[in-house]
Amino acid sequence: MIEKLNNLFSNFTTQLEALSKQAEVLNLKADLLGKNGKVSEILSSLKNASLEEKKSIGALANKIKDDVQQLINQKLNALELEVINHKLASERIDISHLDSIKASGLYSGGYHPVTIVQKEIEEIFLSMGFEVLDGPHIEDEYHNFEALNIPKDHPARDMTDTFWFQRPDDTSVANKYLLRTHTSTIQVRGMKGKRPPFKFIAPGKVFRAERTDASHEMVFHQLEGMLVGENISVSHLIFFMKTILSEIFKKEVDVRLRPGFFPFVEPGFELDIKCLICGGGGCSVCKQSGWVELLPCGMVHPNVLRHGGIDTNKYNGFAFGLGLDRLVMLKYGIDDIRHLHGGDLRFVSQFKSY
Ligand code: DAH
Repeated sequence: MIEKLNNLFSNFTTQLEALSKQAEVLNLKADLLGKNGKVSEILSSLKNASLEEKKSIGALANKIKDDVQQLINQKLNALELEVINHKLASERIDISHLDSIKASGLYSGGYHPVTIVQKEIEEIFLSMGFEVLDGPHIEDEYHNFEALNIPKDHPARDMTDTFWFQRPDDTSVANKYLLRTHTSTIQVRGMKGKRPPFKFIAPGKVFRAERTDASHEMVFHQLEGMLVGENISVSHLIFFMKTILSEIFKKEVDVRLRPGFFPFVEPGFELDIKCLICGGGGCSVCKQSGWVELLPCGMVHPNVLRHGGIDTNKYNGFAFGLGLDRLVMLKYGIDDIRHLHGGDLRFVSQFKSY
């Protein structure tokens, strides 16, 4: 009987090794350990055996049962792993062979150049502790104009510059809606509920009802920036801008300020950088002047700070509005802003793809 059991076990191990399907393994298990399986058969034939025999054979049978169960489990686990590995291998896509992916009709996507530059600039500001804020494209008159100290008769409110929404149900002047003409709308939205010192940027699309040409579009991108704290001065503004622009262009840039008028800053400036193409000697990019106009900025007007709930006796700050499309054009040598929104895939597919 003992020999029978041992044979049974050694047959089982060779059979098990040859199996490659989970169902076959389960059948083999049933064949051995099931109710009418071979081990039960041997055990039931022990009825008439002596007590001694019952003891030794029973112990061996139980050990074999345990061993069989353990080997079956191991085999099932190994087979399952094989199935998973097989699935992983068969579903694997080798993205290192872009050509073969393209040949199979699949194309990888990519970022728009404006997005690439926007992300790069966001990283730089984030590393300097700025927050990145967002705001609505559809704005009210208050945030686009009023809160920014833009008086009713300012040319920026001219109907030809702004896309207004006409709400048929609302004729009140106080509730006019428009497509934001600049990201400065986020100045007051951003300040609300914040305690100085704080600093944030807000990149996004802006809209103007303008005739388009090589340097004007109806939809373009700005990146607004604002820093509010105690005793902020124009030198802080120059230092920040110089540092940030040097990071953006990955080389030391020279900057200069010229006076500029914007109702929401006082004093207001136009910040120029020394032409990176000719180094200041004069070329077609800088129109022979040696300087490229890059961003308007200034010290935030107290009226604007007050709209944001800031105590102007204690705090002040600076703000700037970077033209993102301009920067993209400078960086990639693009000579017409209309390429950016032209929807021509041959144009956009030249940039970084993933
Ligand atoms: N919002 C202005 C524009 O669209 C740009 C601007 C000028 C933003 C001066 C500023 C600033 O924050 O200080 O033309």
